Amino acid sequence: IPVETFDLVIFGGTGDLARRKILPSLFHRMVVGQMPTDARIIGAARGKMTRKAFQEFVEESLEEFIDESERKPEDVKTFVGQLDYVALDALGEGGWEELGKKLRKDVVRAFYLSVGPSLFGGIAERLKKTGLATPKSRIVVEKPLGHDLESAQKLNAQLSASFKENQIYRIDHYLGKETVQNLMALRFANALFEPLWSAQHVDHVQITVAENIGVEGRGGYYDKSGAMRDMIQNHLMQLLCLTAMEPPARFEPNAVRDEKLKVIRALDPVPAADTVRGQYRANGEDGSYLDHVENPDSTTESYVAIKTQISNWRWAGTPFYLRTGKKLRGRLSEIAIIFKDVPHSIFPEVDEKRGNALIIRLQPDEGITLRMTIKDPGPGGMRLKEVPLDMTFADALGPNAEVADAYERLIMDVIRGNQTLFMRGDEVEAAWEWTDAILAAWEKGGKKPQAYDAGGSGPEDSLALMHRDGRRWREIAS
Ligand code: BG6
Repeated sequence: IPVETFDLVIFGGTGDLARRKILPSLFHRMVVGQMPTDARIIGAARGKMTRKAFQEFVEESLEEFIDESERKPEDVKTFVGQLDYVALDALGEGGWEELGKKLRKDVVRAFYLSVGPSLFGGIAERLKKTGLATPKSRIVVEKPLGHDLESAQKLNAQLSASFKENQIYRIDHYLGKETVQNLMALRFANALFEPLWSAQHVDHVQITVAENIGVEGRGGYYDKSGAMRDMIQNHLMQLLCLTAMEPPARFEPNAVRDEKLKVIRALDPVPAADTVRGQYRANGEDGSYLDHVENPDSTTESYVAIKTQISNWRWAGTPFYLRTGKKLRGRLSEIAIIFKDVPHSIFPEVDEKRGNALIIRLQPDEGITLRMTIKDPGPGGMRLKEVPLDMTFADALGPNAEVADAYERLIMDVIRGNQTLFMRGDEVEAAWEWTDAILAAWEKGGKKPQAYDAGGSGPEDSLALMHRDGRRWREIAS
């Protein structure tokens, strides 16, 4: 079903995110017939460029980022026909009037700020001043949404000086991932799991986002952020919220976001002893973190592990362990719900613990696994065995099951005016408040991150964080 017609302005329209994600996502949506034929996409950037040159530029980006089999020449022609360009001085006067002339009255306007965060406030203000921000307008921003609570508050204040909260779309691309949305379907469309979804039955939860890539060309940005700001404050926090939240009364933006916010507010402050910071060091072919950043003595972390507690009726006593890192053995993102053991074993010769586990795999190989215990077949007595009840979405839904890129879903939601998968201002601030306390404790402690081998499974201390609780991390396969 096509969405209603729109004018989408991409500030930073010639930048990396536009080329890599935004434009290819729009192209895909056009191909499946979701983009109205009169919708328009206007690139805005500082450089002078004719409309034709921008069209060629986008055509090249599509060639680079979309497989040839999915890129029919006639589709590309139609798509670039919907493009336009305006050279614009984001914080000055130049180009704004021209942009205004290109926009239609009374249609949805989406202003996607694919620019550095230092420009967010200024552009928002200009959009208001120039009258381009109509009631049917939306503004889209993406992380970093602040560097700490104070800067996040400032940014929220700047945005809300020009736009109402229901016009502000803060992207966390993890919320656009198919399996992340599936987590809500799994929890709230099945009667099976919810009764077990509490401290009474869940021993602990492990949330892992492991990457095998390093910081590569992003050292400049990354070294000022580190894994805590880059991943935990946003992506892992969102996964934690969706896993732990109460069922919202309706699948509606504020109902869902209210519940997520309650989770963040119920998080206990984390003592430094329940956190681990790591930084990868060279290992064989793989270079070290320090090879990729300017500061040779950098103490920025490329790995974080945290044990956190949610102090509410549902979760008191069930720790949530979070970990994320770069240059690990494999690429794996998953949420693992580890259930408690049976209260009494009638198979006394089996002394090993065999709690059930439900694993929700976000990537790669999206799917769900339920770890169960069965009898090991054969006549040798009652021996038990753990087996996975395994489902990958590709197998269950067939090879044609459409797994759209997160941005495709999110951009269309902006046009539809659906904020369910976007972060509300108070949510971002609450997440920073929690994050800041941990960052401050690290700063005060002055401890360097522990080195771990590139291509390994993370710092030793991270294993110890689990072992001292009699638990262990799930394996990250290579
Ligand atoms: C980004 C981080 O937000 O998410 C990157 O800035 C990280 O450092 C990326 O690599 C991971 O996203 P995905 O979708 O590849 O898991």
